[in-house]
Amino acid sequence: MELKGRYVADSHRYDDSDALYRRCGNSGILLPKISLGFWHNFGGVDPYERSRAITHYAFDHGITHFDLANNYGPPYGSAEETMGRLMTDDFMPYRDELFISTKAGYDMWEGPYGNWGSRKYLMASLNQSLKRMNLDYVDLFYSHRYDPVTPLDETLQALVDIVKSGKALYVGISRWPLEALKYANEYLRQHDVPLLIYQGRLNLLDKEPQEEGILDYCSEQGIGFISFSPLAQGLLTDRYLKGIPEDSRMNKGKFLKKEKLTPELLDYLKSLNSIAEGRNETLAEMALAWILHQKGITSVLVGASNVEQLDKNMKCVHAEPFRNQDI
Ligand SMILES: NC(=O)c1ccc[n+]([C@@H]2O[C@H](COP(=O)([O-])OP(=O)(O)OC[C@H]3O[C@@H](n4cnc5c(N)ncnc54)[C@H](OP(=O)(O)O)[C@@H]3O)[C@@H](O)[C@H]2O)c1
Repeated sequence: MELKGRYVADSHRYDDSDALYRRCGNSGILLPKISLGFWHNFGGVDPYERSRAITHYAFDHGITHFDLANNYGPPYGSAEETMGRLMTDDFMPYRDELFISTKAGYDMWEGPYGNWGSRKYLMASLNQSLKRMNLDYVDLFYSHRYDPVTPLDETLQALVDIVKSGKALYVGISRWPLEALKYANEYLRQHDVPLLIYQGRLNLLDKEPQEEGILDYCSEQGIGFISFSPLAQGLLTDRYLKGIPEDSRMNKGKFLKKEKLTPELLDYLKSLNSIAEGRNETLAEMALAWILHQKGITSVLVGASNVEQLDKNMKCVHAEPFRNQDI
């Protein structure tokens, strides 16, 4: 809601709290079942007012968790700058109602210290992220990917020290293999900084975290799990059922390639869409609901290129349970 040009959050934003929030593993943190990702649509190339409208809609509907990374944009860093601008323009009065995450692990700046998992990179990157986002601390800082060369103890001790320095309240890891996840869990627990959450890709087209045992392990150990790209970047929506729309991510071509949409995949998406129609749901709604009904899931981390998409996706929170024959 805008009041004389100033954003005032909807006073009903927590009315649906019982349905919306889930505990993140065994922690004290509740996260919304739907969280908002800033990978696309929040960069320096995107219209600020559209990004702003999406975040207003999200927060007005109880989505308290925004997920970023140092190199989201484009250009790199610019999604965090958008977040910083949003803090100044709108969200500073609501800082304590927000759970903001960022990450480091992929290429960010030139030279040997702007990538992977060294202490030097993680520390420097978080300092940069805080400046860009206009924040004193982030709620959650992730190692964005497993580094097979840097000693795990170096990466993990950097995460511990980041929490102890007050620059992040919790830590998470993303896309680490199971054995490394187990090691991280033990290390962090022994150093009094329990692993809050694992971020991995689980959706109707990609069940690797289930197949690899990551989801079961997180669930047994009281670690939350948040699913990124839950709509497979838009494939699990009605977006591509009748061709490739001009304004779609696939048409932009960088992260979602046209080759991915084979005739076989399209047939499968259409069959899923029929099941969704039988449930009186959109394909997107059903795809998100399916994830949320899997054991051990805390939240689905969606992207949206406009408010209408997010509005449709929110409906999954109230979806019917699945019967075995559904999917
Ligand atoms: N840890 C990691 O390595 C990692 C990797 C990837 C992502 N992530 C996180 O996960 C977040 C989400 O990733 P994602 O953007 O790939 O998620 P996604 O939810 O799978 O895909 C989002 C895209 O799907 C389309 N869409 C969404 N809702 C729709 C609807 N109701 N109807 C039609 N189309 C719809 C939009 O594409 P159009 O642009 O075509 O409209 C939107 O940008 C990221 O922002 C990031 O925070 C993390």
